Amino acid sequence: MMQLLMVGCGKMGSAMLAGWRRAHHDGITFTVIKPTEPAANREQLTWYSKPEQIPRDYVPDVIMLAVKPQQLDEVLPFYAKRYASANVLYLSIAAGKTLGYFRQHLGEKAQVARAMPNTPALTGKGMSLLCAPSSLPETARYHATMLMEAIGKVALVDDESLMDAAAAISGCGPAYIYYFIECLVTAGKQAGLDETLARTLAIETLYGSAALAAQSHDNIEQLRKNVTSKGGMTEAALAVLMQDNALEKLLTEAVKAAKTRAEQLK
Ligand SMILES: NC(=O)c1ccc[n+]([C@@H]2O[C@H](COP(=O)([O-])OP(=O)(O)OC[C@H]3O[C@@H](n4cnc5c(N)ncnc54)[C@H](OP(=O)(O)O)[C@@H]3O)[C@@H](O)[C@H]2O)c1
Repeated sequence: MMQLLMVGCGKMGSAMLAGWRRAHHDGITFTVIKPTEPAANREQLTWYSKPEQIPRDYVPDVIMLAVKPQQLDEVLPFYAKRYASANVLYLSIAAGKTLGYFRQHLGEKAQVARAMPNTPALTGKGMSLLCAPSSLPETARYHATMLMEAIGKVALVDDESLMDAAAAISGCGPAYIYYFIECLVTAGKQAGLDETLARTLAIETLYGSAALAAQSHDNIEQLRKNVTSKGGMTEAALAVLMQDNALEKLLTEAVKAAKTRAEQLK
């Protein structure tokens, strides 16, 4: 039985928690530290509002750090002291905060890995990045991988300097996609559809297109061309959407802004 201590359990933490429960991960015992009582899954976890309430004889295998990056300075000292000599893996999902930052606050010998999940973890369809140094003990690497794989796909990132760029795609990505759906629904309504139909068409089209792209051997450009008949409706729409590469430029700027923000959070 793996003992998982979650420090913070807000939007991302509770999505992961729901994903693990959904995957019937009966091999994990959950303990959550957060100031206010968890709204969901209350019966499936032990909750303490303050770390001082954690029983002395409780030693977790993994401490998942799921607070805001700005809260870590204040949060880490307790765990650094209490678990200084314990064989525990710290698995951080905080944007921007580096392995070096954690070693500085938790001690040079602390076992630390970084993961960057996304909220679709709740449905078991998450996309996580995992940076787990090869210097970590085998069990720690196994625990980190097992936890992230239980809630979706995992991309291993050996070069930590790529974490911010990768997080700007998959960690933030669901927000870009939801915004795209919102825009498509608005456009559908403008074209005369009711909101329910526009929403269903937009979501299912996105879902189906992603499923096709994931299983196809064609590149994405070819999949787009397969929908675009010469002189047809799609061609007319794409002439607007792709004009001056405006969308590509906008997305490039957006990803750059996310990456810059990660730098500022360090
Ligand atoms: N949201 C995402 O899509 C996403 C994706 C990838 C990574 N992340 C990362 O995940 C982390 C959490 O983000 P979030 O969106 O889940 O934020 P959030 O919803 O604001 O959750 C923050 C959590 O921290 C708790 N907390 C505050 N002070 C604490 C303390 N002293 N000790 C323990 N817990 C404390 C809060 O508890 P209360 O509710 O009781 O105040 C809340 O459960 C961030 O570092 C972020 O970079 C988020």
